[in-house]
Amino acid sequence: MRDTAAPGAWGHASSTGQGFTHSTIVDAHFAACRPAYEAALRRVGVQPGWRVLDAGCGSGSFLPLLSELVGPGGRVSALDLAPEHVAMAATVARSLPDTPIDVRVGSLLQLPYPDGSFDAVWCANTVQYLTDDELGRVLGELRRVVRPGGVVAVKELDVALISVRPGDRFRFADLFRTAGASPGYAQQLLRSADLYRWLTAAGLRDVRQETTLIEHFAPLSPQARAFYVPACAELARMAGQFGTDYDSNYGTDYGDPRRGPPRYAPEAAGGMLWLSRKVFSGS
Ligand SMILES: C[S@@+](CC[C@H](N)C(=O)[O-])C[C@H]1O[C@@H](n2cnc3c(N)ncnc32)[C@H](O)[C@@H]1O
Repeated sequence: MRDTAAPGAWGHASSTGQGFTHSTIVDAHFAACRPAYEAALRRVGVQPGWRVLDAGCGSGSFLPLLSELVGPGGRVSALDLAPEHVAMAATVARSLPDTPIDVRVGSLLQLPYPDGSFDAVWCANTVQYLTDDELGRVLGELRRVVRPGGVVAVKELDVALISVRPGDRFRFADLFRTAGASPGYAQQLLRSADLYRWLTAAGLRDVRQETTLIEHFAPLSPQARAFYVPACAELARMAGQFGTDYDSNYGTDYGDPRRGPPRYAPEAAGGMLWLSRKVFSGS
């Protein structure tokens, strides 16, 4: 059995060794869920002229919209642990010449920016890679680099809401409950439901949560197929090792509605957005 606490155990690792961070799977995920994710970013309330940090920017999928939101008078900084992601994000940045965008390699654990550098931080699907200890430190860093009154926005996935039909609607929940019993990636994914408390404990105020249900129905779009087929295949392999295994076709032609029963409805995934405001402490 694979050690689920090992960084790359969940497949699709990038050069950092973290599972599910390879740009092929991350970009496919973004493309499959793009309307919902961009709507979530729009709800953050980024204003023209703002300085925004994209923390854990990946290959830069959010840079075009961030650039549009802050406009020519604003500034976007993007940071990621994986050098190859930073190189891709830099290419995206060069295609957006109207907005100043700087991109660099770095860790959320030690952000290379002075206190109060930003009006807002956008951190999408990245805190899932942090241990509990690291999460506390990173939220402190996000808070530090945002000006008083600025916004820290964390978008995460709630794996307990993932359901695939037809079949047993609790299969994903079973997998994550079993895998999440010990420390590691699954446990960190399950922690999304508690982020409200984490953000509050980090000293952020006016914390609020919004949950978006993302549904895909047959016939799947090419973008949805491109993500859910390989992602579910990987999860099916993990489930097999935990004894919470899937029907044999889930990891193979699961995404093809022509091979499924009538009214095939393959996926509903919950995305969560956490917004919080930094309040000036006077210290
Ligand atoms: C799932 S991807 C999300 C990318 C992008 N935010 C998106 O939503 O499309 C997570 C990204 O976080 C980066 N990452 C993980 N841990 C990090 C850390 N400690 N500091 C900076 N980036 C990190 C990974 O390299 C990866 O690019």
